[in-house]
Amino acid sequence: QTHEKTATSPVNIAVIKYWGKRDTELILPSNSSISITFSKEHLQSKTTIRASPLFEKTRLWLNGIEEINVINNKRLQNCFRETKLLRKEYEDKLSKEIGIDNVIPLSTYHLHICSVNNFPTAAGLASSASGFACLVYTLSQLYELPVSATELSKIARQGSGSACRSLFGGFVSWQMGSKQDGSDSQALQIASSDHWPELEVLICIISDAKKGTSSTEGMQSTVKTSTLLQHRINNVVPERMKLMTNSILRKDFNKFAELTMKDSNQFHACCLDTFPPIFYLNDTSRAIISVITEYNDKSGEYKAAYTFDAGPNAVIYALKRNIPEIINLISKYFPPNQDNQTFFSDPSKLFSD
Ligand code: DP6
Repeated sequence: QTHEKTATSPVNIAVIKYWGKRDTELILPSNSSISITFSKEHLQSKTTIRASPLFEKTRLWLNGIEEINVINNKRLQNCFRETKLLRKEYEDKLSKEIGIDNVIPLSTYHLHICSVNNFPTAAGLASSASGFACLVYTLSQLYELPVSATELSKIARQGSGSACRSLFGGFVSWQMGSKQDGSDSQALQIASSDHWPELEVLICIISDAKKGTSSTEGMQSTVKTSTLLQHRINNVVPERMKLMTNSILRKDFNKFAELTMKDSNQFHACCLDTFPPIFYLNDTSRAIISVITEYNDKSGEYKAAYTFDAGPNAVIYALKRNIPEIINLISKYFPPNQDNQTFFSDPSKLFSD
């Protein structure tokens, strides 16, 4: 009587950042964004879901700790409601085909959900992205939903905006859409994970402490108070989306790197332009920016691109042949120690489908 499915989902890190919502209920962004999905081996969420007519309520455990307020968690409820609705439609269709007695009414069962991350939660390493993507994907597997990844991305988006991009591997855009009901705010794949094998990524964990201002709160504060954000939304991102897509399709690292760094800088500038200001970068983050800038200057071209999300940790994109040099450089300035643990993931294994 118990039905169970397990699945994993990878993290994605944006190179054109999503920051700001035009609808906070449906999670509709004020600008489109582009990200790269990492390999599941290093940074992933793993979710197991059981459905049973014997369960009295839906329960969820995150990294072993039970979330007590599942009922009042709107984002979770959105994902449950939308996937259940699709399951119900599917059950109705099946009933007509094979008879109601042969269809398991999974849409009426409560769920027990267990989700774990193999990396620090809420340290600005996109744990909500992989977490919600995994929840929605695992539900779609459990419910055997006959829908595409893009359809699922619209549901994952209602859990956490950036989660919609983790439904795809490789290079992914989230088209902001213009409809009020959000039906055109969805993720699309720009290129698959094997498109640009020379591109690799390094993650420097500067701090795994939980961040001060969550991205959800931070971005709405920016929407309310920053004039720079309006400039970014209207005059910068639309053109950058095209340029970034082209640089990826043409595998033009120099352009890709320039756009990635500029977009990270502008996102953090918008945070500073928020009132009161929000600081996600710390001294070590800024020092890494300087080291990379100097390295690029000396090289006469962009050989490394930094980007930072809502936390101090650096994500560095570079071509495979330059990775050893960059690791050397960074570990020279920032030798790993207990307080300042600079962690390098194995870059060769960081992309997946
Ligand atoms: C800086 O997706 O975490 O990582 O939609 O409120 O859940 P919610 O926000 P979230 O914001 C991510 C912001 C970012 C940039 C990005 O991933 O594009």
